[in-house]
Amino acid sequence: MVLRNRIFGSYTIVNVLVLISCGMTYGTESDIFCLKMIKESLQDSDNILYSSWNFHNSTEGFICRFDGVECWHPDENRVLNLKLSNKGLKGQFPRDIQNCSSLTGLDLSFNKLSGIIPGDISTLIQYVTSLDLSSNELSGPIPESLANCTYLNDLKLDQNQLTGQIPAQFALLSRLKMFTVSNNLLTGQVPSFSSNVSVSYANNRGLCGGSFGVCQTKPSKTNTSVIVGAAVGGVTVAILGVGVALFFYLRRVVVKKEEDPEGNKWARSLKGTKAIKAS
Ligand SMILES: *[C@@H]1O[C@H](CO)[C@@H](O)[C@H](O)[C@H]1NC(C)=O
Ligand SMILES: *[C@@H]1O[C@H](CO)[C@@H](O)[C@H](O)[C@H]1NC(C)=O
Ligand SMILES: *[C@@H]1O[C@H](CO)[C@@H](O)[C@H](O)[C@H]1NC(C)=O
Repeated sequence: MVLRNRIFGSYTIVNVLVLISCGMTYGTESDIFCLKMIKESLQDSDNILYSSWNFHNSTEGFICRFDGVECWHPDENRVLNLKLSNKGLKGQFPRDIQNCSSLTGLDLSFNKLSGIIPGDISTLIQYVTSLDLSSNELSGPIPESLANCTYLNDLKLDQNQLTGQIPAQFALLSRLKMFTVSNNLLTGQVPSFSSNVSVSYANNRGLCGGSFGVCQTKPSKTNTSVIVGAAVGGVTVAILGVGVALFFYLRRVVVKKEEDPEGNKWARSLKGTKAIKAS
């Protein structure tokens, strides 16, 4: 718009102002809608949110007086941060957060949020610098999509029931300063963060790489067990084979001894002698 202003001169200033105010109005309505929908979609067992989030008096900046809402400017309905930690909130991650389109911070920690973190979360909270979903009941994987929230400074997901691997792409979050995922059910390789990222990985199912030491990659483990299995199996078959062969060989030797032609002759001659005696 500044560029447009420069190109067309002061003649279009009024147009530009109209455009800006339209954008503002849209943003404002969108932000009010965002908070209305969040109030509707989350159960508020402590009733803290519901007593303070009153949509009846909609003067400019009225949402900025709501508990947990910080605006860019106190007289403008545009949400900067949403700080709803420890409000007894229940339900799924509120997708309508996407309508708070200027949001830079989202704190929903110490609540009872359940279900998965949406796979397209980066499109819902594109500009957040701080996301805190810690101490909830979230399950399922950590979405790869979070790697597209390129403004993230702090990402806190500890104390949930998250499973699977931590996306390796998180290492590409160039502004990241803090990453916490302790007390989950995560497995696999941790991202190779630069040393100025403060990480917290304690109490997971099985993380490896980084300070945990080299990962035992699954395919080679399988190969090793297959090889060991085949070797053991092969040796067993060989021993059995040798055993069976030896058994038949020895039996043949014994049988041969029994069929000793000399012994037979002697036996027959003995029989003959007996016959003679009997007659
Ligand atoms: C909320 O956001 C969605 C997705 O961006 C959009 O389609 C919808 O029009 C928005 N609603 C309001 C009231 O701004
Ligand atoms: C609406 O809220 C503003 C600011 O809190 C207050 O000054 C005003 O009296 C309220 N209007 C009504 C009709 O309640
Ligand atoms: C992240 O952004 C890139 C580029 O815009 C896109 O191709 C990719 O699909 C996105 N990934 C996710 C998981 O949203």
